[in-house]
Amino acid sequence: MKQIVILASGSGSNAENIITYFQESPGIEVAAVLTNKKEAKVLERCDRLGVPAFYFNRTSFTNSNAVVQVLKGFSADLVVLAGFLWKIPENMIAAFPNKIINIHPALLPKYGGKGMYGERVHQAVKENSETETGITIHYVNEHYDEGAIIFQAKTAVNPSDDANSIAEKVHQLEYEHFPKIIEKLLS
Ligand code: GRF
Repeated sequence: MKQIVILASGSGSNAENIITYFQESPGIEVAAVLTNKKEAKVLERCDRLGVPAFYFNRTSFTNSNAVVQVLKGFSADLVVLAGFLWKIPENMIAAFPNKIINIHPALLPKYGGKGMYGERVHQAVKENSETETGITIHYVNEHYDEGAIIFQAKTAVNPSDDANSIAEKVHQLEYEHFPKIIEKLLS
């Protein structure tokens, strides 16, 4: 059985989508979800779905090997960042080479980098009158949003769209593609 561990900081709708997708799959499962936010909604989702979830703080993430040990303890074959907002420390990248992936809600290299997340990304897409946006699934390296791109998918942005409707379209792409790309990487 291949094991996925998800890192998430917020709502966790992608985490839930990935968990339920692999509940139907014989060879792959989500072993655990880790979060850096005690109040993250993703914790409620894990509780409901019966997936172990754990909180870690900044010190254990950045200045120790504790989270790496947890990932190893779950025999993680793939570490999936789904709305996780901290930069991944070098010790974790070294421990899981080409085994940490992220989803970004825009077409990188556009609209990436520190501070470019969630609502801010969609607002910037709107303000720049882009005619398309999308998702990028990429490997994680030591720089925000700069690892090698694995997959992108696009959606049109119309003049009538606002940041909310853009976010909705992007979420639909995420739900459709992220589990399938994870499955491909693991098989
Ligand atoms: C997603 O749009 C993802 O691309 C980005 O953060 C958002 C997380 O949403 N990295 P959710 O927590 O999965 O609902």
